[in-house]
Amino acid sequence: MAEQTVDGLRSELRKLTVLKGTAPEFDPSSAPDSPMELFGEWFLLAVRSGVTEPHAMTLSTADADGRPSARVLILKDVDSAGWHFAISTLSRKGRELAARPFAALTFYWPELVRQVRVSGPVVADPPAVAAADFRARPPGSRQMALTRRQSQPFSDPAELDEALEHAHQELAATPNLVPDEWLSYAVRPEEVEFWQGDSQRRHQRLRYSAEGDSWSRTRLWP
Ligand SMILES: Cc1cc2nc3c(=O)[nH]c(=O)nc-3n(C[C@H](O)[C@H](O)[C@H](O)COP(=O)(O)O)c2cc1C
Repeated sequence: MAEQTVDGLRSELRKLTVLKGTAPEFDPSSAPDSPMELFGEWFLLAVRSGVTEPHAMTLSTADADGRPSARVLILKDVDSAGWHFAISTLSRKGRELAARPFAALTFYWPELVRQVRVSGPVVADPPAVAAADFRARPPGSRQMALTRRQSQPFSDPAELDEALEHAHQELAATPNLVPDEWLSYAVRPEEVEFWQGDSQRRHQRLRYSAEGDSWSRTRLWP
């Protein structure tokens, strides 16, 4: 049975195509000096082009032994400090970032055949940034965060109901409450790679590498 499933997937997978989107013009030789600026241009085009959830990105971390894990998160901002996201320090990703403060982010915008990769150390934002992020979250999101148990084993829905009810009361009593474990991080980029896919596989790749306060740019073989 297991073999049949694998066979079935293999043939299904062979039928699928990739890089079907419409690739916009991209000339690496006239790219801006900073990767933040190019990311801004690409991101705004993704929004205007109707890319599905362009702010969803894969956050990769590693545990203390160097074992990687990855999950999708929402981008909160991009500025001179880097790419920002907010998480609970109690979650797996939160524990991993505390043990190893380095991360990689991956964006994929299939409609534009574009990928962006960002990597570097993570730096905690000032508490006011995390507080503003938390207070702007919808009530359900804040209540879930206040259960303080993300990524722990789950077995009993009644226990979740009870924890949510408790969180609801906590928020009702203190509407501006921000849990201590809510943290906003910035990935301070050491490398940012922009990848413009091409159906003929002549992909355009441009990597920015941090050099002190400036950036060097290198084109990469497809
Ligand atoms: C589109 C999308 C958006 C998500 N946004 C968030 C988010 O903003 N914050 C969050 O904690 N988890 C978010 N998740 C869930 C995470 O992928 C992940 O399951 C969760 O954070 C637990 O990860 P961890 O066990 O590695 O800590 C999102 C998932 C998807 C698919």
